[in-house]
Amino acid sequence: MARIIALHSHRGGTGRSSIAANLARLMADTGRRVALVDTDLQAPAAHVLLGVAPHSADRTLAGYLTGLCEIEEATVLLTAGFGDGELFLVPARAEASGIHEIIAQGYDVGLLREGFDRLAGCLQLDVLLLDTHAGISNETVAAVASADILLMVTRPCQLDLSGAGEATEFALRLNCPGRALVVNTVPPGTAAGPARRRAEAAYGLPARAVLPYVPEFACLAGDRLFAAAHPDHPLTARLTALIPALLDATPPGAAACAPGGAATPPTPHRAEP
Ligand SMILES: Nc1ncnc2c1ncn2[C@@H]1O[C@H](COP(=O)(O)OP(=O)(O)O)[C@@H](O)[C@H]1O
Ligand SMILES: [Mg+2]
Repeated sequence: MARIIALHSHRGGTGRSSIAANLARLMADTGRRVALVDTDLQAPAAHVLLGVAPHSADRTLAGYLTGLCEIEEATVLLTAGFGDGELFLVPARAEASGIHEIIAQGYDVGLLREGFDRLAGCLQLDVLLLDTHAGISNETVAAVASADILLMVTRPCQLDLSGAGEATEFALRLNCPGRALVVNTVPPGTAAGPARRRAEAAYGLPARAVLPYVPEFACLAGDRLFAAAHPDHPLTARLTALIPALLDATPPGAAACAPGGAATPPTPHRAEP
């Protein structure tokens, strides 16, 4: 059965998409069958980070949600040497297309959950990673409600940390069984210890990784995946070290996230234009 991991953050620019794409690649490198679905219809990034184009404008997540294709037809297989593993991507949409139809027509949000289950089964996945838009949207709700683990990405600044309570409440309401925290882009000259402690106190969770701001990362600007360009960099090692914590038998943070009285998850509903 596939482990489903949704990445989420309160604000944009935390490094969520970059971490999702690098983790997907590193997991495939270690022999796993991995798919990354870019549910960020507003600001898609995964196809740029992984350097692939959708098959066509219709064969994307947006195309699937508006009835133009089946979800497996939107899947792109990345072939660059992953050993025994395989990496699949479902791009959110093609450039300048798909979003208008979604806004104009709306779509049945239940299709997202159905599509994730279908992908996990027909691609025989070990891991399904779901990248999301920052904050809370219909796609994010569906992704988190489908996930075994909510991987929350935050910068150590107060603007990001102010969303911690909302993110925690969100995971509880959606009955997501596990939560994990990653602190990203700790500024140069800032001690990692206090940054970690501030984020852990805000989220009430141990940080699974604390990642520094790395200029080479920012400089790649989506031209190449960091883990592929810098396989021996300490940041790549920290991302690799995160994998066992995410793929352990018991979702991390399970106890913290499943108290007796967790609220009922909202029923999927049709997104209104
Ligand atoms: N650890 C890091 N060090 C330096 N730059 C980073 C790091 N993590 C992410 N970035 C950069 O931050 C920017 C935003 O990242 P992105 O993954 O698009 O964030 P999000 O998906 O949360 O909006 C990108 O330019 C990315 O290269
Ligand atoms: Mg993003």
